[in-house]
Amino acid sequence: MRPADFALERYLAQHEFSAKHVACASDPETLSVAEVLALEPGAQERLLSLRLGYTETQGHPALRQAIAAQDGVMRAEQIVVFCGGGEPIFVFMQVALNPGDHVIVLKPTYQSLHEIARSVGAHVSPWSLREEAGWQPDPDELTRLIRPNTRALIVNTPNNPTGALLSHEVFERVVAVARQHGLWLFADEVYRGVEQDPAARLPLVAGVYERALSLGVMAKTYGLAGLRLGWLSCQDAEMRERLLRFKDYLSICNPAPSELLATIALAHGTELRERTRKIVADNVALFDEVIATSRGRLRWFRPVAGTMGFARVDGSATAFAADVLARHGVLFAPSPLFDAGDEHVRVGLGRLSFRAAMCALFGQSL
Ligand SMILES: Cc1ncc(COP(=O)(O)O)c(C=O)c1O
Repeated sequence: MRPADFALERYLAQHEFSAKHVACASDPETLSVAEVLALEPGAQERLLSLRLGYTETQGHPALRQAIAAQDGVMRAEQIVVFCGGGEPIFVFMQVALNPGDHVIVLKPTYQSLHEIARSVGAHVSPWSLREEAGWQPDPDELTRLIRPNTRALIVNTPNNPTGALLSHEVFERVVAVARQHGLWLFADEVYRGVEQDPAARLPLVAGVYERALSLGVMAKTYGLAGLRLGWLSCQDAEMRERLLRFKDYLSICNPAPSELLATIALAHGTELRERTRKIVADNVALFDEVIATSRGRLRWFRPVAGTMGFARVDGSATAFAADVLARHGVLFAPSPLFDAGDEHVRVGLGRLSFRAAMCALFGQSL
């Protein structure tokens, strides 16, 4: 079965490069190549002398070492690097699932996480984040969703699009349920490291459960989407082998310049994470002001992690987004794009240009 169109990507393809102000992006403020090279003495020479042949399918050992060092709980050989974040999601679903399997997916979320499972022939049950609970899911509901043929549990925390982070208590229940039923636990943690309260950061899922896979990317927390690099951390050697064998049919290996630039950037991971966290914190405060001037037309559960928030609008979110784009040139992403009703818009909080976007809205009748 072919996957349905990726609704958000089609919407962005239509508007992202023509809208005056993009206020829904998930990737935060980026850096230039020169800024990345300036992080480390000798980096420019390393880039210029780089040979442009094929690279190791699993990812350059120095890059895997740098990824492992971010959390200090995995070894370099337990990491498989891919091109972007979509490739590892696709590959995992192909190698882990069979038609007729049952999969539970925490929703709303990034479309690939449920649509690729569905396209493989799996039955997908949503496990819902509840707005009234500050975007936390009900752990008892998870237990009720388990079936004899449940094969995988898929969570995305920090969450796109709500900006929620599973509480430590729910996180422990997730791991316990996965372990009790022997499930694969696929944890999309691409916004990991942008928690507004660093104490709220959860353990890396792959570090605490032997059948877990943790997804990370350069695009989000580190602001380097153009490198197109992502990775899975996994303790299970056989699963890693299956991922590698499938990757042979896709990208085969990763771009050498991206691997080098990512290795350099990750040596300064703490600094880059803090840069993103700070921009988001400033923009959260700014959007609070927009909400205050919206005369009740906008509300939100303030996001606690990641680079975005999910604001409730008065009336149809689709109509609101179309109107704000037409009248003020500001692009929000309405919730039908996330299969999440028509009452919210995703607000992208990671960019410095967010201030100019909000200036276009201040004092306007939203
Ligand atoms: C939750 C989530 N997972 C994966 C991805 C894919 O990451 P990349 O853009 O690096 O391929 C995204 C991108 O928006 C995302 O939001």
